[in-house]
Amino acid sequence: MERVFKFPKDFLWGTATSAYQVEGKNDFCDWSDCYPAGLACDHYHKFREDFSIIKKMGHNAHRISIEWSRIEPKKGKFNKKEIEHYREVLKALKRSKIKIFLTLFHFTLPKWVAQSGGFLNKENVFHFINFSNRIFDEYKELVDFWVVLNEPEVYTLLSYLLKRWPPKKRNPFQYLKTKRNLLLAHKIIYRDFHKKGKKVLVGIAKNNSFFAPYNSKSLFDRLSAKIAKRWQNHYFLNRIKNEIDFIGLNYYFTSNIKFPMRMINESRDVSDLGWAINPEGIYHVLKDLKKYKKPIFITENGLADKKDKLRKEFIKNHLFWIWGAIKEGVDIKGYLHWSLMDNFEWDLGFDPRFGLIEIDCKTLERKPRKSASFYSEICKNNCLTIK
Ligand code: GCO
Repeated sequence: MERVFKFPKDFLWGTATSAYQVEGKNDFCDWSDCYPAGLACDHYHKFREDFSIIKKMGHNAHRISIEWSRIEPKKGKFNKKEIEHYREVLKALKRSKIKIFLTLFHFTLPKWVAQSGGFLNKENVFHFINFSNRIFDEYKELVDFWVVLNEPEVYTLLSYLLKRWPPKKRNPFQYLKTKRNLLLAHKIIYRDFHKKGKKVLVGIAKNNSFFAPYNSKSLFDRLSAKIAKRWQNHYFLNRIKNEIDFIGLNYYFTSNIKFPMRMINESRDVSDLGWAINPEGIYHVLKDLKKYKKPIFITENGLADKKDKLRKEFIKNHLFWIWGAIKEGVDIKGYLHWSLMDNFEWDLGFDPRFGLIEIDCKTLERKPRKSASFYSEICKNNCLTIK
């Protein structure tokens, strides 16, 4: 029997990327020395080609980030050529009638900012606010949704506690301070943008996982899962709940928590990175976000799957549970798959393949995977059909 799951009118469908992961040739930011991305996907030059693929696939929305280090490579010196470059990028999307989500901070910092302490240094918070206001003034007519910060929890955790990402620190005080400074940046930018425009929509891309107790009969495991959920999913959101117009949700996996705070993954369904696939998790996370009473867009959801063996099922099952959450009254207005194409997965390099479109590392040729046409049908019809 065929079952059809219709999505609300004007639902947004698309994909997400970030500048450093796809653009290539960026020697201006803090990542470029420790994790050079080389040419990446050369999206910097091939954006028109990429956007025409998006259009053909029937998407009506797309999320990109703007690279602060290109725009302001030296303190106070804004590069006009780069400002014009991004104007072209945004205009190309606009001409294709694709709604634009623009992220202002997606993990990379100009070298001069990183060298003076990154977001640990309050002065840099104000430099970021200044940069964001400039970007707003330049592109306010073009951008539909402003995403100030991408995944502040992941950033602070990996950069200031786990020593994986620049500046590779393990310092709980710096971890907390950076988090607080990011909160401050978000709040001020929200207010600044709203002072300038009436219909401005400002939000965040928030990574929330589904935290489940490893053993649901254990009081300690239940308590640990609850604490993890409060800290990872709600600490930041709670503090900006009056300064967001929408919530962007980045959902990837479920974490089974064993007391005191160990993540146990015994799932048989895992991505190439070993992340536990649990589509039902997105339903619980979405229901849990309902209390904020804000529209929700899924700003990232996807998996590393080089052979494209699981992606189609992954999309289908996640959309099924998203549909379920909508039916139960959660105000979900769009879905952006991570990612449009294979790209530079931070400290893990080019191995993890998250793309609907495969990138040939040598020729940079774009080859849509089978899952891309499956997703495209859903976008075009605004519904999911399960046979
Ligand atoms: C993040 C980012 C993306 C990743 C994606 C897959 O979560 O780190 O927002 O840049 O590439 O999540 O890991």
